Amino acid sequence: MKVGVVGTGGMGNAHARQYHKMSEVELGYYERNLGRGETFRQNWGAHLCNSIEELLDWADVIDVCLPTDAHPEFAHRVIEAGKPLFLEKPIARTVDAAQAIVDAAKAANVPLMIGHVVRYFPEFALARQMVQSGSVGKPAAIRTRRGGPAPTGSSGWFMDHSRSGGVLLDLAIHDFDWLQWTFGDVKFLYSRSVGATTGHGPDYALTTLTFESGAVAHVEATWMDPGGFRTYFDIAGSEGLLEFDSKKTPALKTVTTESSSYEPSLAPFDDPYFLELSAFLASVQTGSPVPITGEDGLVALKIALAALESAKTGKVVTL
Ligand SMILES: NC(=O)c1ccc[n+]([C@@H]2O[C@H](COP(=O)([O-])OP(=O)(O)OC[C@H]3O[C@@H](n4cnc5c(N)ncnc54)[C@H](O)[C@@H]3O)[C@@H](O)[C@H]2O)c1
Repeated sequence: MKVGVVGTGGMGNAHARQYHKMSEVELGYYERNLGRGETFRQNWGAHLCNSIEELLDWADVIDVCLPTDAHPEFAHRVIEAGKPLFLEKPIARTVDAAQAIVDAAKAANVPLMIGHVVRYFPEFALARQMVQSGSVGKPAAIRTRRGGPAPTGSSGWFMDHSRSGGVLLDLAIHDFDWLQWTFGDVKFLYSRSVGATTGHGPDYALTTLTFESGAVAHVEATWMDPGGFRTYFDIAGSEGLLEFDSKKTPALKTVTTESSSYEPSLAPFDDPYFLELSAFLASVQTGSPVPITGEDGLVALKIALAALESAKTGKVVTL
């Protein structure tokens, strides 16, 4: 299968690392930054395409790893060409743009999957399973925390919130998606964020969600933690508590004079990004529905944008 990656920055490389493990995948790419593209070609032995048109001619499926505000333009190009589309989260920067992508994919009968990869992180997947099988009884209170240092990205686009949506749209959306998937629809929310007033730069946000079920969650997201990337959740219910802290799970730490990093604690084929992209390709090959749809991406986006609105206005927003 020929997979065409658009954008060879952070996520383009993260995805290529996974495709590289799949013997049936031939990788191609289109990237407007020639230097970054050349490094990608050398690292992954990928086939260079000099334009999106060339990539659409060459590839069987397309994987869009572009800055969020560029998703709509390229998603529509892919859908018009009739190629199955994997699109990184968030689906788009606005509800109208996201809805147009979902509608276009449906009208053209093109498979569309959104990269809400947290559903494939083992602790998050298992916690959902345990909640659904009644392990904690009736869920009452959930806390999540996600974040690390501010992402740089190419040309600093993350720090321009008109492009990235700040920490609520770019980071907390992972938890909004997982929470909605696990605990059902959100009724209303209230959010405070640093970025709501600045509109640029590092950001921190705290959002309180009330679910239709009556459960309450608070979701913390930060780009202001220089201590390294960390995820945390706890779920309290009538029968008990589940807790996870990525900083407390055993992983091999390597430290040099320049940096320190944790070795992955998962086997290569259990990597969440591997599972996510394999699931997409399997759906395309078998014609079965994709596991995370455009509609799922739209629901998560609506929660994140409602949080952004609440953070700006200081008011509770009903969904
Ligand atoms: N699922 C996750 O865990 C996760 C993590 C980080 C980022 N993301 C999402 O992935 C997407 C990409 O983020 P990133 O961190 O890879 O950004 P990035 O800035 O590192 O990479 C974007 C790449 O796209 C290229 N590009 C930009 N505009 C282009 C155009 N018009 N034509 C061709 N190439 C173009 C840039 O040169 C750059 O190489 C974003 O939507 C982001 O929210 C997801």
